[in-house]
This record gives sequence, structure tokens and C-alpha cells, in this order.
Amino acid sequence: MKIPSSTLTGKSLISIHDLSIEEINQVFDLTAALKSATEPTRLLEGKILGMIFEKPSTRTRVSFEAGIYQLGGTGIFLNANDLQLGRGETIADTARVLSRYVDIIMARTFEHSKVTDLAQYGTIPVINGLTDLLHPCQGMADMMTILEHKGRLKNIQMTYIGDGNNVAHSLMFGAAKVGMHLNVTTPPGCEPDEKIVKMAKADAEATGSRINITTDPVKSVKDVDVIYTDVWTSMGQEKDNDAKIKMLQPYQVNTALVKNAKDDCIVMHCLPAHRGEEITDNVVDGPHSVVLDEAENRMHVQKAIMALLLGN
Ligand code: CP
Ligand code: NVA
Repeated sequence: MKIPSSTLTGKSLISIHDLSIEEINQVFDLTAALKSATEPTRLLEGKILGMIFEKPSTRTRVSFEAGIYQLGGTGIFLNANDLQLGRGETIADTARVLSRYVDIIMARTFEHSKVTDLAQYGTIPVINGLTDLLHPCQGMADMMTILEHKGRLKNIQMTYIGDGNNVAHSLMFGAAKVGMHLNVTTPPGCEPDEKIVKMAKADAEATGSRINITTDPVKSVKDVDVIYTDVWTSMGQEKDNDAKIKMLQPYQVNTALVKNAKDDCIVMHCLPAHRGEEITDNVVDGPHSVVLDEAENRMHVQKAIMALLLGN
């Protein structure tokens, strides 16, 4: 197998909004090829991935690290607090220095600007491994998972229900690009970022995707193909936890809510789940749930992304 030539080569992946539909499809095609490969595919022999984490992670860390090893490269885990970054060295200097040692960087940060600054000041591709604003690798893995289970993305009806957070934002950008219809259903006060909504709606005009911001949980999941939820309190927002639990209780994904969707609907969650809050045990472990496929696809999609950004 060879890395297909792509306009992604040499670029960073900060947001799904920056990708063309051709680039999105290139990621899905290479993901499928890597996932079904029967021989080892060492497309990135000798390449080094630096992984900066300001927040905890299970899936992102392990899927990137396992993924780069599988491709013949090496991953270096960098806890932001153990870097000089934690003592005030600038992002710009960190980016310039790391660019002399490694071939590609993945970063998980609080402020979104830290990831964009890494990409701006470094000379190597940067992958957004989650910021307070966006989680593009999750969105790409989720769309791959829908594609596998439903055979298409165009005109799939999905409802994201819960907190209008980074995961919701990336799903909005993704849905708009691929022509999927998406309700984002939240209580007042938990809506997605207005700027992101505007940008996604603008993209949606080109593809016929409908992005609706709604408040009624039962109505919004009526006859949908996909129900998606995520934690009510994202990393770094713990002080809002009690208020969020009160506001979001009626938005829990439980058996009664899922009954309103199509019989063959799939239920998605990026994990980690706060079982008993945004989703009940019997739904997350139930027959509609595809949460482990999503987690697995993180690795396959990220292998494709790393390969396309680095090229041959
Ligand atoms: N879904 C996800 O990004 O999980 P981690 O926080 O475990 O990386
Ligand atoms: N919205 C969650 C996603 C975790 C993968 C968070 O930011 O904590």
C-alpha cells in the first residue's frame, strides 16, 4: 500500500471545517483500506509523532500511539506540565523547537488558540486532539462509524442531544460538509457556539444538509437514524457540574427516549461516558450502541490522517 497523493499533505488538521469534501473522502477511503489490510502497513516507517496533552485522555493517547507504531513510526507522549511550556515557554518557541525533532504533532489543549498557534509557528503538520472548541478526530471517526453502519452519510438524520460542546461543534462541521442532517438539541444555556453554528449552516447550504438548533428532546429524536450524546461537563468546566446536571436531566439518553427514533437507529457517544447522567447503562451497553466501534475507528481514522498529512 502507498499513501495516496493528497492536497492534505503538509497541512495541519485543526478543524473539519477546513477540509474539502474530497479530502474528507480521502480520509475515509484510506481508513477503510488500512482497517481491512491483511499485511502490516508501515506507511510511516521511522516517522516521529509528538503528542502534547494538557488534559487527560484514554482513547486519544492510546489510539494515536498504537496507530503510529502500527505504521512503523514512534510516538512520544508529552505531558504539557512536564514541558517548559508549563513554566511559561511560549507556544511559538515550543512549536519551532519540536519541529526540529519530530515529524508531526498531536495536541490536546484547553484554549483552541494553542493548537492554531502550534500550527502557525511550527513547520510540521499539527493535529487537533481536542480543544475546548473542537474535537475533529472524534468527528471524523464518528462519521466513519455511521458510514460503516448505515452505508452512507448523505441524508442521514442525526440528533446530538445534551451539551453544545466541542464534540457537538465538530459533528456540526462534519454533517454540513457531507450532507448529513443534524439536530443539536440542548436546554437554553447549553447551546453550541453561535459562530460555529453560523459557519456550519453556511457550509450546509452547499450540500443540502439541514443543521437545526432545537430544545425539545423527544421531538428531536423522532424517527432519526443516529442519536449522539456526550458528557454534560467537559474537561475544564467542572465548576459548572451541578448546574449542568440540573439543566440537562431531561436530555438524558435512556430507553424511553431511544424508542422515539427509528427501530434500527444507532446510539453514539465519544466516551468517556458518565453512566447514569447523559446516558443510561442499558442504552450504552444495549443493542443500538456503537460506542466501541467509534472508539476503535479513532485509531483507523487517525492513521489515515497522519499518513495523508505526512505524505510519501
Ligand atoms: N473520546 C476521547 O477523545 O476520549 P479520551 O478523552 O479518552 O481521549
Ligand atoms: N466534551 C468532552 C469530550 C471528551 C472526549 C470533553 O471535552 O471533556
